Amino acid sequence: MDKLLITGGTTLNGEVRISGAKNAALPILAATLLSETPVSIGNIPHLKDITTTIELLGRMGVHMVLDEKMNMEVDTRTITNYQAPYELVKTMRASILVLGPLLARFGEAYVSLPGGCAIGSRPVDIHIDGLIKMGADISVDGGYILAKAKRLKGCRLVLEQITVTGTENLLMAATLASGTTIIENAAKEPEVSDLAYFLNKMGAKISGIGTDVLTIEGVEKLGVDNLHYEIMPDRIETGTYLIAAAITGGKVRLKDTRPDILDAVLAKLVEAGAEITSGEDWIELDMHGKKPKAVSVRTAPYPAFPTDMQAQFTAMNTVADGVGIITETIFENRYMHIQEMQRMGADIRLESNTAICTGVAKLTGAPVMATDLRASAGLVLAALAADGDTLVDRIYHIDRGYDHIEEKLSQLGATIRRVPC
Ligand code: EPU
Repeated sequence: MDKLLITGGTTLNGEVRISGAKNAALPILAATLLSETPVSIGNIPHLKDITTTIELLGRMGVHMVLDEKMNMEVDTRTITNYQAPYELVKTMRASILVLGPLLARFGEAYVSLPGGCAIGSRPVDIHIDGLIKMGADISVDGGYILAKAKRLKGCRLVLEQITVTGTENLLMAATLASGTTIIENAAKEPEVSDLAYFLNKMGAKISGIGTDVLTIEGVEKLGVDNLHYEIMPDRIETGTYLIAAAITGGKVRLKDTRPDILDAVLAKLVEAGAEITSGEDWIELDMHGKKPKAVSVRTAPYPAFPTDMQAQFTAMNTVADGVGIITETIFENRYMHIQEMQRMGADIRLESNTAICTGVAKLTGAPVMATDLRASAGLVLAALAADGDTLVDRIYHIDRGYDHIEEKLSQLGATIRRVPC
């Protein structure tokens, strides 16, 4: 199992290209299951979760070709089965995203239930309830969801809670349903919108994109000839590199990204003392050598502050001036990084879903364990600011969601290397 060895204390400076968004690429690849013609997808990030998705679709018999520029041709005409096995779903919960498209297009799906997760219980009841309301016959047996439907029927769905992949699954299912589906209290995350734009390019009729009411007029079939779609940039990767510069008092320019979908994160960085400038597809952050000021954040669905940036801001607060209060409202157990940061000398008190963090003069490097994707990003950031060496174990978590992280951080001047064990 590889580890990352990071020697902290360098001020980061330079330019990095942001990759395609993991959380847009995963639903869009699942959505290719709806297309009767081959599709080409560009700006696919180089990630373990993408490899898992390729394996998942490959086992169904889908034909895929990925070129060296990370463009992928997907042809679902060769599909032979409609299954997502436990051994893949347990490594990537987003595999549940094949449920809606398989059921809508082929009338059947056999998908493992994802089960527990390091950041919270994460049920999929809203996905299942929505499909049942659309007329699916669903049973759970042996840990698998068995779903069948002749043709799904459009209806009004009021989601009990805002859910990103739940909205995406129901949105994909509704594209081929008979009649109109209205999804209320839909997630407004930009990745949901990217999926909706892609579905419309394939011939779907979705309106209300970017709002919490999505209206989908079902069509008979999807797929247009020579369709190519470029995945949007990763806003969480963007935020993570902005903090890498902020936590080390440095300066970074990120290209091929989108400042317009990062309002809540950029506002908090400005509050922390960063100077931010941006253009349509780039963002520059300059700390002018200063230490960040502590900031308080409360996670909530988009457009509020993203839970996927919580661990990284916690890392920044550990070395900031003052006291920052972090409140996590999306996942009940998303504080596994805190104990590891405490081992590096961080002063954090955890009270239920609130972390009260008093900045310390210096963290010290230590061996630490990554527990989930964003927690690992938080630990890498803390390591960049720490004195001495930090060895981050279980970095397979980070490889799920950060494209070439050690190359990108090295490019900014960090001392980081992958240690094969
Ligand atoms: N929830 C339910 N029932 C459901 C679905 C969700 O109770 O049927 C609850 C969850 O337990 C949670 C809340 O609703 O408390 C929101 O969860 P959501 O369903 O929105 O999360 P998700 O769709 O499973 C996606 C991202 C996560 C990101 C969350 C929140 C993908 C593939 N994953 O997960 O990304 O944290 O939305 O924004 O899009 C990551 O990239 O590291 C990551 C975990």
